[in-house]
Amino acid sequence: MKHLSWFVTMISFLALATAANAQEQPNPITGSHLYVSYCIVCHGKDGTGKGPLAFKRHIKPADLTQAKYQNKELEDLAALIGGYRPMEDATLMPNWGVALPKEELIDVAAYVLRMTRKDLKLIGDTRRGRVIYKGACASCHGRFGKGDGLLAQLIRVEMGDFTKRTDMEGVTDEKLVKVISEGKGEFMPAWAGTLSNDEVYDVAAYVRLMAK
Ligand code: HEC
Ligand code: HEC
Repeated sequence: MKHLSWFVTMISFLALATAANAQEQPNPITGSHLYVSYCIVCHGKDGTGKGPLAFKRHIKPADLTQAKYQNKELEDLAALIGGYRPMEDATLMPNWGVALPKEELIDVAAYVLRMTRKDLKLIGDTRRGRVIYKGACASCHGRFGKGDGLLAQLIRVEMGDFTKRTDMEGVTDEKLVKVISEGKGEFMPAWAGTLSNDEVYDVAAYVRLMAK
């Protein structure tokens, strides 16, 4: 019996540790998709509150690019997004806390906190970018952009880590688009011709979001 209770304790400890870990890893990429699906209609693409429904209903969605939101801690912003609002609230800001699980509130908050970052001005459809990335780039750059894809390991080539913000900040938008279109060095292929110009921007915008 003693054995069993030790086992049960370990299992619950592991479960707790995994849950805590899941919360510590906000995913702004999922967040950007949630934002596109649920928030753009009111808050607009750039977050300043000029979505089409805002005009139609004459409501004033908060300008999410303001310092008072951008300077918030991630958890606090997520709590604000998920905060309770009465159904009859004339502002129409939905009560996201009842619709989205906590991890998703964290993910969308993580995206909102990246909206004003100067290195994320590239306009591209990150949802399409993700599909392109998985198909054309992950084999070398790795699923999460760390440069550890299977093909890269097999042909023994090294490349930068897209998740390192300090590295990626040195790469301007122009350079990013140019490298993807025209290739670089011996192994980074030129994608122009295979991908349309729009698709290059989509995948570039997705690569940008990978930087933490
Ligand atoms: C139907 C329109 C609508 C949608 C959809 C919507 N919002 Fe809002 N939101 C508003 C309005 C209007 C306000 C301003 C509310 C106020 O003045 O009290 C607001 C306020 C906010 C605030 C500030 C809250 C505060 O107390 O200061 C945040 C943060 C926010 N929205 C985030 C989001 C996010 C993230 C999404 C998508 C998951 C979203 N909103 C979707 C209309 C909307
Ligand atoms: C066959 C492997 C391979 C594939 C597939 C590949 N890359 Fe690369 N990529 C590389 C290598 C190797 C480098 C490093 C080149 C160098 O620095 O000489 C690189 C460099 C880059 C850089 C430059 C980063 C910097 O720090 O300058 C970007 C951006 C990039 N790749 C994006 C992409 C995208 C987007 C795709 C998919 C459309 C893709 N790559 C597909 C191998 C690959």
